[in-house]
Parts: sequence; C-alpha cells; structure tokens
Amino acid sequence: MPEPPERGAVLAETERVLQQNWSTGERDGVPFEYSEPSPGRYPWQWYWDSCFAAIAWRRFEPRRARAELESLLAAQRADGFIGHTIFWRRPVTPLRLLFYNVASRRSLQTETIQPPLLAWAWRLAVGDPGEEPRIGRQAEWLQANRDLEGDGLLWIVQPDESGLDASPKFEPVWGRQSNGRFGFPLLVRRNRRLGWDARRIRNAGRPVLCEVVVNTFWSLSLQALGRPSATPALVERLWDEERGLFFDEAQPQGELVRVKTWASLAPLALPDLPEEIGRRLVEEHLLNEREFWTTVAPPSVAADERGYEPEGGRGPIRRYWRGPTWVNSAWMVWLGLRRLGYEDEATRLADGVIAAVAREGLREYYDPRDGTGMGAKDFAWSALVAELADPGLSYRFK
Ligand code: GLC
Repeated sequence: MPEPPERGAVLAETERVLQQNWSTGERDGVPFEYSEPSPGRYPWQWYWDSCFAAIAWRRFEPRRARAELESLLAAQRADGFIGHTIFWRRPVTPLRLLFYNVASRRSLQTETIQPPLLAWAWRLAVGDPGEEPRIGRQAEWLQANRDLEGDGLLWIVQPDESGLDASPKFEPVWGRQSNGRFGFPLLVRRNRRLGWDARRIRNAGRPVLCEVVVNTFWSLSLQALGRPSATPALVERLWDEERGLFFDEAQPQGELVRVKTWASLAPLALPDLPEEIGRRLVEEHLLNEREFWTTVAPPSVAADERGYEPEGGRGPIRRYWRGPTWVNSAWMVWLGLRRLGYEDEATRLADGVIAAVAREGLREYYDPRDGTGMGAKDFAWSALVAELADPGLSYRFK
C-alpha cells in the first residue's frame, strides 16, 4: 500500500501538470481558458476532458475550475449545443477533416457530442448549475435532439461520442467504420452528409446507440440540475439481469451489445442506482480477477474478453480503450465502491492507481497488469488521481 509521501508526491505532480497544461487566449474576441489534455498531442479543448480537469482544479484553484467550464459555455451555439472538441487556437488541418466531425475547416467546434457531464462537473466544482441557464439549455438541446425513444435516454451517432473511441464494444455495431478502423472516414462522411442529425441518421437505416457511459453522465447531470433522474430508464433499458451488467442497445438491430467493458460498470457512480444492482456489479464483476480486478483496475475491457489488449491497441492506427486502465474510469467505479461501503476494496483500487501514477507520471492510460504508463504524457484528466489520493472533499450529487 502506498505510503502517505507517495500520495503527497502524486498531488504535487497533479498540480504541476494542471498548471503546465493551462492555456489561455482569444478567438474572434471571445476569451478562453482551459487545460490542454496533453500539450502537443491534444492542443484543443475537449468537452469531457475539461469537465474532469475542472473537477481536479477545484481543489487547487477554484477560479480555474470555473474558467475551464465557462470556456465550454463560451463555445455554446444559440440552440444550446456544445461540441465534442472546440478549436479555440487553430483550425483543424485538411487531413483531419477525414476524421474530425466538423462541418468545415473554419468551424469553431465539432458537430458531435461527448458524454454530457457539464452540469454534474459544475455542481462538484463550481456550484448550483440551475443558476446558470446556459447549462440547462445544453440539456434541452440533448433532450430535443438525442432522446430518440422518448424515455429520457440519449442516443449517439458514432463511437467517439461516448469518449471511448475504439472500444471493441462498438465493432458489432459499426464494423469496419468504427473509430480506429480504416473505414471510419466513411462514417464521418456519411454523418456529415446527414448533418449529424440523429433522427435523419436513424431514418436512413444507419446505426445509432443508446450507450451506457453517456447515459450515466447524463443522469448525473440531470440530478445535478434538480431534474428527474434518468437512472430508472437506464436500468429498464440497458440492465441485463441475467448477466448482471449494463450493455448498450443498438438500433436498428434493437439488441443489447454484450461486450464486457468498464462501461458495463460505470453506473456504479450513480447515487440512485438500486443497491442490489450495485452489489452485483461489484461482487460478480468488478472484484472478479478474471474480469476487472487487475493490479491497476478497472481495465477498459474485461480481461476475459476476446478483444482485450492490455498493452494498448496494436497496428498502425492509435486505438484507444481496448484494455488499458484510465484514471477517470477508476475514479467512477471507486465512487461506487465507497458509496456501497466497500472501503477496503476502494482503498486497494486507489492504491493501485496511485502507485502507477507515482512511478510513471500522469499518463493517458496504464497497463492494468503492472501499471506501465502509456499514451500521451502529462495527461490532464489523470489529475483525477487526486480524488483517490486525498478523498477528503465531499461529493454533492444534487
Ligand atoms: C482520445 C480519447 C477521448 C479524449 C481525447 C482527448 O480521443 O479517446 O476520450 O477526449 O482523446 O483526450
């Protein structure tokens, strides 16, 4: 178990990375301030990265937590939409048009979304999101445009909208057009033609997905806004009682996609998840060494899945979320362990992540077997390790 000095060193390193990645400027008279996910590799403002960075900033410099989220709001369109990536500083290169969901090179942001946790992040890092009407407007855009079945759950139009870009769970749905596959530019081109409009995409017979992580954050945000929770609908639609896990539902197939990834456990973070479901997730799966209970847990794909690649994706294209452990997901399931009273297990999970970060620095992801750091360096949202290293701050869900 890491000694307190290791925890102190991790907190210091976290603050160093956040300070270093802080980026400020102005585009067309609009000022911006945010944490670059990783200098050089990821220069733009990513929506969910910023939400996580703001949560980490709240303990070091609350003003920056607010400024980070205000910059997302500064990019908001009049109809309430906020994109997956915002190109404050420089436009995308022509080559990136193949992979990036922008209407044109001059676009300020993508036309796609990322998991909508802004309201919840605001609740944790700033205050009552109900007092900031622009946050409510984003929720209304999502409701109007992405709640395709009228049950309060959101649907996505391509894998990267979940933030879990190349996860093997998307392959049964999008096949060769999944993120990280050679056909992905085709998906971007098709969705561009359909204006990234979920209803048009579905009507054209193309896939849409009711995804677990997106809807977990959506439910947290609704609750932060004081609106009715989406958790009952999430359980109704995506809980697989037989397997004891959550899975995405794909349309037009109309079936659950039963690939075991950390997303199956993400609802553990929901304060209103029925307790017996939480206990099944923990006892049957998270604490199962054949699936998710690795040295640095939880791996992004269960260790007994065929698609499990703990050393990161193979091949010429960078493929994320295919096995390594990411700090944001460790934090999400840790929240559930603590809420359900699994204190020793929560400490063990935290210790695994802290030890990896202490040795390897804030990397994008880690080998679940031995904590080897991989991917981008000085990765901002890995600052969430501070939540595990110094769990004194409280969590206000509502
Ligand atoms: C990768 C991740 C995505 C993240 C982005 C920036 O694409 O899969 O979740 O938002 O990098 O860090």
